[in-house]
Amino acid sequence: MKSCGCKSRFNAFFMKNLEWYLHHVYGNYKKSLFSKLGKDVLEIGAGTGTNLPYYRPHTNLTVVEPSRDMLNYFLEKAEKYPLNIHVVEGFAERLPFEDNSFDGVVSTLVLCSVSSPSQVLKEIKRVLKPGGVFIFIEHVKAPENTLTAKLQNIVYPGWKWLFEGCDVKRDTGSIISSFFPDATYKKIRFNSPFIPVNYHIIGYGTKRN
Ligand SMILES: C[S@@+](CC[C@H](N)C(=O)[O-])C[C@H]1O[C@@H](n2cnc3c(N)ncnc32)[C@H](O)[C@@H]1O
Repeated sequence: MKSCGCKSRFNAFFMKNLEWYLHHVYGNYKKSLFSKLGKDVLEIGAGTGTNLPYYRPHTNLTVVEPSRDMLNYFLEKAEKYPLNIHVVEGFAERLPFEDNSFDGVVSTLVLCSVSSPSQVLKEIKRVLKPGGVFIFIEHVKAPENTLTAKLQNIVYPGWKWLFEGCDVKRDTGSIISSFFPDATYKKIRFNSPFIPVNYHIIGYGTKRN
């Protein structure tokens, strides 16, 4: 488990207080993406539960999250939603589920922070049923020679330290496409106050084999 130190508490508090902004910028995209999900869903890195309002009532939602501080907020909020929730404290690099278990897997702002995105995507694909969907919203590496790219280079070490492994320069779209070759996603540049994480990918892929 990740330690429950000051940084972990700060990150949980920070994400909790960012929820209104995440609903503001992603809300409509999430409504559309989450409508693709079936009954049995896995969310990795569910954090404080920002995505809870977007699940269909009575979804069987399994959550894998390593931070006890995030989970404290998540569990408090989860009671308000008509979902069948099963929480697992753990890391998405090693999912404790059988192959072909879920109709859908969700990852929002998580693949930037995991220690091995390839291992996580391998696991996501393994636990998805054939025809199941993987939906994602992730911030990504900015195009070369942009102001954001320059800023990403500058803030990279400090950002990674403060936000517990968050890599602002990760080319997550390419990694997703190598596991879900048919993945479709929009590339969006938000006018965000958080400039180093301005560029986002928002989309989904399907498990074909
Ligand atoms: C920036 S927060 C995003 C939380 C939530 N998904 C959202 O959109 O608000 C990143 C989350 O990923 C979790 N996380 C970090 N490494 C992880 C890993 N290896 N496996 C699963 N979750 C992880 C963190 O604990 C945190 O809750």
